[in-house]
Order: sequence, then structure tokens, then C-alpha cells
Amino acid sequence: MKDKFGREIRSLRISVTQKCNLKCFYCHKEGRKENTNRSMLPEEIGKIVKTSLDFGVKKIKISGGEPLLRKDITEILKNIRDKRIKDTSMTTNGILLEEYAEKLKDNGLDRVNVSLDTLNNELYKKITKYGDVEKVKRGIEKAIDVGLTPLKINYLAMDINIDHLKDIMEYCREIGAILQIIEFIPTNKNLNKHHVDITPIENKIKEKADKIITRKFMQNRKKYVLDGLEIEFVRPMDNTEFCSHCTRIRLTHDGFLKPCLLRDDNLVDVLTPLRKGEDIRRCFVECINRREPYFKGKDAK
Ligand code: 5AD
Repeated sequence: MKDKFGREIRSLRISVTQKCNLKCFYCHKEGRKENTNRSMLPEEIGKIVKTSLDFGVKKIKISGGEPLLRKDITEILKNIRDKRIKDTSMTTNGILLEEYAEKLKDNGLDRVNVSLDTLNNELYKKITKYGDVEKVKRGIEKAIDVGLTPLKINYLAMDINIDHLKDIMEYCREIGAILQIIEFIPTNKNLNKHHVDITPIENKIKEKADKIITRKFMQNRKKYVLDGLEIEFVRPMDNTEFCSHCTRIRLTHDGFLKPCLLRDDNLVDVLTPLRKGEDIRRCFVECINRREPYFKGKDAK
């Protein structure tokens, strides 16, 4: 099914918990300010996922909070598993990854994205409050060992860690990870000062790149290969391309379908109808119908 702007739905991003073992000062909490006390059972997540597949979803991303804080994460994976899904991945801070990597792989997870904004432990602690870089690195290396690959490192570009990008690039090249350079979304005015324009970085990498790829179904994101290192850019801010090529819907940790990362006012409750035994297909129809580009082109209304 396509939305009113002709965009297909191909991916579902599921937040399985809002809890986290870190406290990153910048966290956008998956664009969710309001909160209910509800949480979804593995079987419920499974049912919602199966229904999403009928609407064209082929890719599942599990996120949080920190998804590995769900003690039943392997149950969740078991319930999600389906032949029609082409790619199941997870975004994690990596703190518990060393312990979980093997179980995740065994239960059908294909790959992980690990958030790592610096290799400097002092700065990492400043950013995350409770983090430990060495633990994350062990998690990353274990994940690669068990085949949760291609593994991606999520590097959020900010004023405070932009000088650390070189080290991160070096590390990714060494371990064979893909680097995702993500533009910072200031979630409040106090955070504006941390935003950096990543255009000059992208231009520099573009110049030196051995290969440039456009990820057609992924918000037209660009991907570069530079001396064997793959680098992707994620730039949602004021990016009409990002929106016009968006094929993603979200499921919040408390059971609402979310048409857009950047909006919190148009959610569709899917968990209540599911618990009443109703047909939840209409929730998907409603969610898809509510989708509209957040950043519209100049000519758009
Ligand atoms: N801006 C951009 N990305 C963010 N993330 C979290 N908060 C923000 C923000 N304010 C993304 C980062 C992190 C992932 C869990 O969510 O990429 O790695």
C-alpha cells in the first residue's frame, strides 16, 4: 500500500522498550515525549509485525531505549521471524552486546547498528553518563565474530566529537564495519549549539571516494566507499529528499503506530484493538493515510 504521497511502506522500526542503561544528553527518545505505562508482549509484537508484512514491510529494525534491556529479547525475535522479511536488524548502544550477540544471531537477527560517537572514554562518559567504550568495543567485535554483519557504527556528528571522526573511521576500517555519519537533531533550543553542518564532510569524502551509491529505498541516502571503508550519511534535517523517499513507519514501545519520526501528534493506537481481538489492519491503513512529508519541497502546500 502506498501513502497519499505515493510512498511505499517497506520498513518498520519497533521500539521494544523506552528504558536505557545510558543517559545520552541528546537522546530524541524515538520522537516520543508522551508516555503510557503499557508495554507490548513478544506475541503482540509478533502479531503486529506479521500484519505489517501484508502492507509491504520487508525490513524490521528493533530499537529502544536499549533493546537488550528486554529480558525476553530472544522471545521477541522468535515471534518476529518470518520468511517474508528480508532484513532484521537492531540498533543498540553495545553495552550488553558481548553477552547477547550469539543468542541474537541464533534467533534470526541479521545485523546490528551500534551507537558510538567517540573512542575516547572520557568524552564517551560525558556523552552517555554511564558508558564504557571498551565494553562497547568488545560487544562490536563479538557481534562481528558471530556474523551480525554488515555491522554499522552510528556516529552522531556534534561539535564536541567532530574531531574524533578520523579515529572512528580508522576503527571502522580496521574491523570492517560500515560507518554511518548521522546529522544531529536538536531536540530542544539548548542543544542547537551542538549541531554541525556535515555537508563539508560529505563533500570531502565524495571527492576522495572510490565509489558512490544512492540508496533508493532508504530516503535516497548516499553511500561512499573510501579506501575500503563504507560511509553512509543520514541527514534528516530540512531534507525534503529524506522525507520524499521515506518508506518507514514506526511502532512505539507502548503500542502505537507512528507515521513520522519527527511528529508525536498523529499516532495510531494498535495495541488496544489487538487486545480486544479486533482486526488491526485498519490501524495500518489509518497510519499510512496519516503519513505526510515533514519537510516538504518549496512548491508543496
Ligand atoms: N539526533 C540524531 N540522532 C539521534 N539519535 C538519538 N538522538 C538523536 C538526535 N538528537 C540516534 C543516534 C543514535 C540512535 C540510537 O538514535 O543515531 O545512535
